[in-house]
Amino acid sequence: MRIVTASAPGKVILFGEHAVVYGRPAIAVPVDRVQATAEVRRYAKGGIRILAPDLGEDSLLAELPPDHPLGIVVRGALVELGQTAEAGLRITVRSTIPIASGLGSGAAVSTAIVRALAGYFERPLALADVSRLAFEAEKVYHGSPSGVDNTVIAYERPVYFVRDRTLETFCATRPFTLLIGDTGVASPTKETVGDVRRAWQAEPDRFELLFDLCAEITRRARAAIEAGEPALLGPLMDRNQDLLAEMGVSSPELEGLIEAARRSGALGAKLSGGGRGGNMIAYVEAEEADVVSAALLQAGARDVILTRISAETRN
Ligand code: MEV
Repeated sequence: MRIVTASAPGKVILFGEHAVVYGRPAIAVPVDRVQATAEVRRYAKGGIRILAPDLGEDSLLAELPPDHPLGIVVRGALVELGQTAEAGLRITVRSTIPIASGLGSGAAVSTAIVRALAGYFERPLALADVSRLAFEAEKVYHGSPSGVDNTVIAYERPVYFVRDRTLETFCATRPFTLLIGDTGVASPTKETVGDVRRAWQAEPDRFELLFDLCAEITRRARAAIEAGEPALLGPLMDRNQDLLAEMGVSSPELEGLIEAARRSGALGAKLSGGGRGGNMIAYVEAEEADVVSAALLQAGARDVILTRISAETRN
């Protein structure tokens, strides 16, 4: 029997979350240590059965409501691939990416499904098409997503992302190390994005200024990464964290981990993603990673992932 499996990584946002929803740039990188996978095989009973054991999901596509993110991505991919929803398929989704934690679990699941279906029907899709199909489901997960999550996950490269602009990928000229600390607090991005929108509507001038300041930090961070001066990233992360706290998306749990990271030797730290919970990131010298990681766990991190942004020459 033909069985096709495909996967997609998680992601972290290094700079510019929330501001990116309002047209400012963000920098995001894929995180390979966590993955979503989708497996597609024939389903003799006909129709399309979607199983996501981690989410307690076991449904036929025809039974899913029109706004169900898994249904949206499967239907969109089938149309793109010129297939009908009648095909007898069983799609099984698994993920090691914690949900509602800022690591892009929704976009990774969507991307893995699109890739697996494209593989099953032997119709390779362009990265831009994979990203576009995943974006449709992101609208359900996030409300008004910028598109940064599906983009960095579909392209699997560091991206400098500006909404509705041609994508810019970029390379670090020197590698650097990040720790990703999980508060263990689930915080759906849709809620924080909605709260920031309401706050922006109430105080547009203040929030536009905060977004502009984030944009300046993101531009400077990209220049530092490209120039091989990652040491500049620490203070820029700290400053971005201050601005995110002013937007109201930090939390005591995030602050606790950020403080623990800084005190134990991190060069800078901030929340990553929607905030209020989920994950924070700390920029560390490689040789300090163990000490900072232990401090994060001691301070209550549910999990700590080390990821290295490598210096690459691809374009
Ligand atoms: C979520 O990973 C990042 C946010 O900026 C939302 C978005 O860009 O869609 C909070």
